[in-house]
Amino acid sequence: MREAPERIRRLPQQYFTALLARVAAAAADRGDPLVDLGRGNPETGPPGHVVKALQRSAARTDVHGYAAFAGLPALKEAIAARYLEVYGVELDPAREVAVVPGSKTALMEFALCAVERGETILLPDPGYADYPSAVALAGARRASFVDFDSAEGAALYLNFPSNPTAACAPPGMFAAAVQWAHRTGGTVLHDFAYGDLVFDGRRPQSFLAVDGARDVGAELFSMSKSYGMAGWRLGFVLGNTDVVSRIELLQDHLFAGIFRPVQEAGIAALTGPQDSVEERRATYERRRDRALAALAGVDATSEGTFFVWFRLPDGMTAERLLVDHRVAVAPGEGFGDRGAGFARLSLAVSDETLDAGLERLATALA
Ligand SMILES: Cc1ncc(COP(=O)(O)O)c(C=O)c1O
Repeated sequence: MREAPERIRRLPQQYFTALLARVAAAAADRGDPLVDLGRGNPETGPPGHVVKALQRSAARTDVHGYAAFAGLPALKEAIAARYLEVYGVELDPAREVAVVPGSKTALMEFALCAVERGETILLPDPGYADYPSAVALAGARRASFVDFDSAEGAALYLNFPSNPTAACAPPGMFAAAVQWAHRTGGTVLHDFAYGDLVFDGRRPQSFLAVDGARDVGAELFSMSKSYGMAGWRLGFVLGNTDVVSRIELLQDHLFAGIFRPVQEAGIAALTGPQDSVEERRATYERRRDRALAALAGVDATSEGTFFVWFRLPDGMTAERLLVDHRVAVAPGEGFGDRGAGFARLSLAVSDETLDAGLERLATALA
């Protein structure tokens, strides 16, 4: 076989693929059980009425062909109605909403749709490990976003609440991003995957709620975290009509729509009872409180998401936690240079697993 083409060779190894392999190897290594707080995979599924909607739809005979490429209009209307109700943002479902097979796909598509080869994309550091993959796929250059005064680039990724730092957007951040985009002509993508998971009485803050945001950028909304539907692969790109139409064009070539029962279950999730969203949020907040109490004395924070970001004491590493203390966490350096010396633990595990992991961490970090 010939060597892989350059666009494949420049893709880095995927951070979580590597992490899962490392944790599995460490688990196989010795007999004693390992506690895995490394992955961010929602531990419970969607509410029963969503699963029933999928089952009802899949039992029909007329839903198994190719779905409409751009997604069901009723699904676009459902997410637009939710945006209005929860975030106070009015969207035109026909022009300002694209349906995507998960926001992971969309953050790749955005890079392809927003910049030319060789242009610079600014990324948060530390930031979600798939953003550099999107930059690589687009043949773009990557630079760390530091502040808006020094930010030079054709596109900017933002992510609040943040994976991995679990920080919410500082006041004025989104407005400054809109100003930056107007000044430089750059395009903004706000990844809102954890939008509903905010703690301590904070209100979810959509980028699109800021004046002028949709003129310069788009937001990703994911069904994975708010509704426990990570395996279903359903999300949205919302806002700027150019970004939305470019993504729909690209998807017309890449995919043949999303399985209609998944879309209909998505409508059920978005338009049905919303108590499960608040229950999920409250569960993670309670676990966050437990984690911070167990790690008293450690520099650890979490304002939202289902993660806690913490500083490792001198001499300690995620690898040592794994090998010597049998607890897996996500190493901070995998999220960017400025993540070195930190690690991320996940609250998306059972209470028993969390308690077992916290006990080991408290001993190891003391
Ligand atoms: C910050 C961030 N963005 C996007 C995603 C991808 O989510 P989805 O399941 O919608 O593809 C994740 C998943 O962990 C994430 O943490």
